[in-house]
Amino acid sequence: MLLAEIQKRRSEFAFSPKLVEEEKINALFEAAQLAPSSMNIQPWRYVYATPASSVFEKIVAALHNGNQRWAKDAPLLIVSVAQKEYEFNGNILQNRYAWHDTGMANALLMIQATHLGLISHPMGGFSPEALIDTLQIPSSYEPVAVIAVGYPGDTQNLPNDLYERQNRPRIRMQLSHVCFYETWPSNT
Ligand SMILES: Cc1cc2nc3c(=O)[nH]c(=O)nc-3n(C[C@H](O)[C@H](O)[C@H](O)COP(=O)(O)O)c2cc1C
Repeated sequence: MLLAEIQKRRSEFAFSPKLVEEEKINALFEAAQLAPSSMNIQPWRYVYATPASSVFEKIVAALHNGNQRWAKDAPLLIVSVAQKEYEFNGNILQNRYAWHDTGMANALLMIQATHLGLISHPMGGFSPEALIDTLQIPSSYEPVAVIAVGYPGDTQNLPNDLYERQNRPRIRMQLSHVCFYETWPSNT
């Protein structure tokens, strides 16, 4: 059941150094690419790197310190980027769904990762300016999230705080707090 894989996905911290096979990387992007998007604009773009390349180090350097400490050990870093504008009847318009649609594509990518036995961890803690500069992202695009992907590693090697974060119970609001049948409840 798909729900079981959605339940299994967690933003994990411990990565194995084992590289992600090219066909699996391709499957991640194929899943992302099949996301729905407003007017089928497909505003998502992905730049990815593995530790063999100097770009990998630059992506790590753009992350906030708290993310660098564990994301540097992931064998694959994926930078998701949204195209902010689109062309319609010769006019350049803002796509107000650009981030929404890129987020949906990212969700499919991460669920596909789970399906392939991989772990993934999205991050918003990075310097957009550093990524724009490093990856030469054009001005009509902006970085949305960096996603660390890889095979599960040994959680025993994690620093205590990350071990604790990875193993704590999953916290979610009650469904009754976020899903309303027919009318917005008066007490929220
Ligand atoms: C847009 C976005 C930004 C996030 N940024 C970070 C981050 O910078 N560092 C981090 O450790 N986790 C980050 N996370 C992961 C969240 O903390 C995590 O998804 C949330 O706590 C729920 O846990 P789960 O993914 O294991 O279900 C981010 C998640 C999203 C979707």
